[in-house]
Amino acid sequence: MWNLHFLTRPALGLVVWALGALPVEAQAPAGKAQAVAIVRGFTNSDIQGTFILTQGDGKSVRVTGEVRGLPPKSTLAIHVHEWGDCRNPDASGAHFDPHKSGKHGHPHDPVGSHHAGDLPNLETDDQGVARIDFTTQAFTLDMSPTSVIGRALIIHEKADDYKSQPAGAAGGRIACGVIGWAKP
Ligand code: CU
Ligand code: ZN
Repeated sequence: MWNLHFLTRPALGLVVWALGALPVEAQAPAGKAQAVAIVRGFTNSDIQGTFILTQGDGKSVRVTGEVRGLPPKSTLAIHVHEWGDCRNPDASGAHFDPHKSGKHGHPHDPVGSHHAGDLPNLETDDQGVARIDFTTQAFTLDMSPTSVIGRALIIHEKADDYKSQPAGAAGGRIACGVIGWAKP
């Protein structure tokens, strides 16, 4: 955090006023918003992936990506977790749940009936490569509470069963990447 102690009270007020006066357009890319997440293994550096998230004119966000270095021929959970903190497996917190559903579920269940961060499992080929192409209306790429900007993509060691609480019985967290704005 910035150290603002040196500022006089009126000066601090001016700073707060100036931040509040920033137009919303200046804080998020206009038009088609795109985000990127570079995912890496916590301990296994062979695990490397790139995900692109795109929000078109409508409400839906398309998530595409490819990850290498995963166990071959396996089914692995992937979620959006609430904090964009990959310092250790626990730092990203719980599944992103802006709709306050309090429930883990299937990614294709109605929006709001389960965590927005619940994504379909990754399926790896015999080379340990997985690709994802998924479209959702459960979250956004903007400055609203449903935005996944600044949150984390987490890959797990096991499959998500889409029903066990609170996280689909997906086991440990093996890889992490922070979702940030892509360069326009
Ligand atoms: Cu997870
Ligand atoms: Zn969940």
